[in-house]
Amino acid sequence: MAIRFIKSSKRFVIDTKNTTYAFEIFKRHYLVHLYYGKKKARFEEAERRSLGFSPNVAEYSSKYSPDNLPLEVSFFGSGDYRDTSVCIVGKDGTGVTDFKYKSYRIFEGRQSIDGLPFARPDADSETLEILMQDKVTGCELYLYYTVFPESDVISRHMALVNNGKSSVKLARCMPMELNLDRSDLDMITLWGRHNGECNYQRVQTHHGVQSVGSRRGASSHQYNPFMALCAHTATEERGDAYGFNFVYSGSFLDEVELDQTGRTKALMGMDPATFGYILDAGERFESPEAVMTYSHKGLGQMSRNFHKFVKNNIMPKKALDPHPVVLNTWEACYFDIDEKKLLQFAEKGAAMGFDMLVMDDGWFAERHHDRAALGDWYANKDKFPNGLADFVKNVRSKGIKFGIWIEPEMVNPDSDLYRAHPDWALRASGREPLVSRKQLVLDMSRDEVIDYLIGAFDKVFDGVEIDYFKWDMNRHMCNVGSAALPPERQCEVYFRYIKGVYRLMDWFVKRFPNAVIETCSGGGGRYDLGMMPYGIQIWTSDNTNPYNRTFIQSGAMLAYPATTMSCHVSNPKENMKSLDYRYKVACEGMLGYELNILEMSDEVNAEISRQIAEYRKFEHVMRLGEFYRLASPENTKYSAYYYTTDDASEIVLTVVEKEDCRAGSTKLLKIKAALPDATYTDLYSGKRYAGRELIEGLYIPLMGEPDSARLIYLKKD
Ligand code: DGJ
Repeated sequence: MAIRFIKSSKRFVIDTKNTTYAFEIFKRHYLVHLYYGKKKARFEEAERRSLGFSPNVAEYSSKYSPDNLPLEVSFFGSGDYRDTSVCIVGKDGTGVTDFKYKSYRIFEGRQSIDGLPFARPDADSETLEILMQDKVTGCELYLYYTVFPESDVISRHMALVNNGKSSVKLARCMPMELNLDRSDLDMITLWGRHNGECNYQRVQTHHGVQSVGSRRGASSHQYNPFMALCAHTATEERGDAYGFNFVYSGSFLDEVELDQTGRTKALMGMDPATFGYILDAGERFESPEAVMTYSHKGLGQMSRNFHKFVKNNIMPKKALDPHPVVLNTWEACYFDIDEKKLLQFAEKGAAMGFDMLVMDDGWFAERHHDRAALGDWYANKDKFPNGLADFVKNVRSKGIKFGIWIEPEMVNPDSDLYRAHPDWALRASGREPLVSRKQLVLDMSRDEVIDYLIGAFDKVFDGVEIDYFKWDMNRHMCNVGSAALPPERQCEVYFRYIKGVYRLMDWFVKRFPNAVIETCSGGGGRYDLGMMPYGIQIWTSDNTNPYNRTFIQSGAMLAYPATTMSCHVSNPKENMKSLDYRYKVACEGMLGYELNILEMSDEVNAEISRQIAEYRKFEHVMRLGEFYRLASPENTKYSAYYYTTDDASEIVLTVVEKEDCRAGSTKLLKIKAALPDATYTDLYSGKRYAGRELIEGLYIPLMGEPDSARLIYLKKD
């Protein structure tokens, strides 16, 4: 049993394979956190220091105050002055919220979440449901804890039911709250920008609030929803590490506060600045899900827990099949595409061994540049005189699959759609919408907009054999308002928007069951667990420069498996060394290419064919295997990782140098996951190694030159 209620001590205990999470019902009404960490059968009650000046609830005695209790869920206005999880504004307008524990239920599996993606349960997953009530508003709050024993992950989400007589506004909703009784923690987050996502940042927590988040309507390039807390002393292999993530693609907030008592409070949930939701009497609201993991074996194990979880419980099962090695037209041709050129790409690409041709932006309506046509989803007649179906049939007849680019959530002012429905773009009433990349954001919170898109895509792709959609989203939201909602409900637009996106994605998945999706948002602007259930991979960044990619990919793999990471070789400038470097960096994830093979030399194209054939031999190790970081680019002058199959019979090691590596230096890289008694052969050099030797370490000389990288593929004899 993964979840237990111990009646005598009124404790809930949640076990995963290696961790335990526990809290207790305190003074009948309150849920007080006790423990999260290494698996244990017994634990001391968390010490409840009373350092607060005030207030004291009569029932608590003067020793205890909500201001310093490590609550499982805290409420605005009820005596906890730190940031809180939930605030509902009832008819008195105060926002004072005070839910009290009522009952619990433990059941097998999990509850689905209405209109939102959520983690697939394991065969032995269980869920704890806690019911709390707020006397004044009559609202009920349900807390859900679902356990994923194998990957050491526990998820949380909440539901609010308005059983009162008047409407209430949910003004704050943070489904993950965790109070740790320690002050020795660092906060790790991934910050970035367009073309430079997922940079690693590790800073000491300090008194006060530290936070990252997004108010952009997308999870964003700027801050990824992933966050970790780890002991100051934690390393890759040792020490406590707690990882958190949010199964959501919109605005969010991750917050950490080291409080007056030296406890650390972490919150994760909806960004309060862009979120609010009104529930009329009888209505129910369900929040997105947050997930957490704990490792006492450092950050490496934290990453591996999340990698396993993302592969087994978040990504579609299809993502575990081999991913196509694609030839994408974007950096090869940009908008300059037509049937004639693409059929040449298809023919040559098939001969070179590509699995799929992906026709990127520029195929529809008057889309000859980025100034027009988003929203008008029909194939351009001049570019495809015999229609899309005929063109795709011809592509496939060359022996290559076909993928296509779409950006459903956007509209150009210069489009038939916008001319017919200017009110379908997000805009605050009476204000001019702000244009970005010459486009506006469609109001995906409106059902009729989603219905229009469903109708348009149903028509344009009907009878067209599409194997792959690249779903893009190229700007953030501002000046947000929906013409379909009354003033008091404008606060709901961001959340309703994302639900609309998920509805359309669900439709795509069901309507085109044989196709897969790669999601993208100007590169990695929505690299999140909310997108991952729909696609087999995410376009990691628009930046395909391998030097920059080393940082971006290293950061992404802290939270997400290589399976999610779409990595392309681009623009090798006819330089074979650069081509090799680009390939070896792209091999760290799911390989693809975007370059003009019609203009490349025979030498370059022959080398690309060889690379594709080579990658196919070991890509399953990256796609399905476990990931170990030996050196990260932010700390060292090179990066080194290895991936192993579950049984450690195959190991792929990549070593990528940054430009400033000192020539001649040699690094000892320990492959600790190797089987000590086995013998391995490196498929490139033919060299044989005893497993013990690999565990002790391989000496890898660094070249100390730009564009140097190394790939070692070890197979057990
Ligand atoms: C941004 C994407 O990230 C690129 O790969 C490409 O698809 C362009 N959009 C097309 O407009």
